[in-house]
Amino acid sequence: MEKFVFFGGKGGVGKTTVSCAYALKCARNGLETLVVSTDPAHSTTDVFDQPFSDEPTPVTGEAHLSAMEIDPEDEVIRHLDEIRSDLSAQVSASMVNEINRQVEMAHQTPGAYESALFDRFVDVMKNSEAYDRVVFDTAPTGGTLRLLGLPTFLEGWIERLAHKRRQSIDLFEKAAIGNMEPRRIMDGDPVLERLQQRKEFFEYAGETLRTDAAFFLVFNPDQLSVNETKRAIDGMDDRDLAVRGLVANKLTPEPDADENGRGARFLRDRVATENERLSQVRSEFAVPLIAEIETRTKEVKGDILGDVAAALAVDL
Ligand SMILES: Nc1ncnc2c1ncn2[C@@H]1O[C@H](COP(=O)(O)OP(=O)(O)O)[C@@H](O)[C@H]1O
Ligand SMILES: [Mg+2]
Repeated sequence: MEKFVFFGGKGGVGKTTVSCAYALKCARNGLETLVVSTDPAHSTTDVFDQPFSDEPTPVTGEAHLSAMEIDPEDEVIRHLDEIRSDLSAQVSASMVNEINRQVEMAHQTPGAYESALFDRFVDVMKNSEAYDRVVFDTAPTGGTLRLLGLPTFLEGWIERLAHKRRQSIDLFEKAAIGNMEPRRIMDGDPVLERLQQRKEFFEYAGETLRTDAAFFLVFNPDQLSVNETKRAIDGMDDRDLAVRGLVANKLTPEPDADENGRGARFLRDRVATENERLSQVRSEFAVPLIAEIETRTKEVKGDILGDVAAALAVDL
């Protein structure tokens, strides 16, 4: 398996649960593993009954396993602060207020969270020499997938800016009689340099996700979740990111054949509906179903997590 493993899917389907189970399986097989959660609501803290922060912390009682939690809100603030200080260093003092206003507005935009989280993911990937496997409890979707197209877009932008810059340096040289040394050489241009850095950052991200990452999608056996999974597979295909497998979670357990009470009939009908959805997934999707996990009567943690881990038919 690739070093980076992502479990995507809609909120509540079981991404965090399955990610932790898979990470546990890797760790128990001797791989130095880090599980990265981005969910402030239900997260690794609940699954392992242990507080985590945005720095990797060893999971108590599990050799080879560490966890960290990234808070999207903190990341947006950090991300925008960086942009603010970057820009402020490059403009006159009178522009700083305007920049602050713009950055404040950017904070409210829907893409800000995704973008900031994605930056942090890439940072985690870049600084993961200590681990054999890094498991993320979310996968890039929508806006984040579009970010992977940024290098091509930035390329054109950088070229045009560099061209303008060359022209103005040229003019400047011609005007500066007796002093042929351009005041600002292109290499030292902070705007161009920043754009170049961003381009390389997203190039690294795209390259790593295409060659060193595996994607899995978690879904529940209902029509909405199945449709959403189809869209997610298509979206990732468009970016050359192959979805390796699907995990069906929260399946209803079947009653014994001799049970015929109301509860048993309900379960049987429900199982029949879910089986139709699963058949649809098996026949219509090109991606294999690698696990079918039943609904447990309690949240998945402790020993149950080990059971779920065992149910995942994935390579290590
Ligand atoms: N197979 C399951 N059986 C019972 N509860 C489950 C199962 N899978 C997940 N849950 C519970 O459902 C809730 C949502 O799961 P979670 O993994 O946090 O989803 P996500 O990360 O996709 O939002 C959690 O309370 C979790 O304990
Ligand atoms: Mg989660």
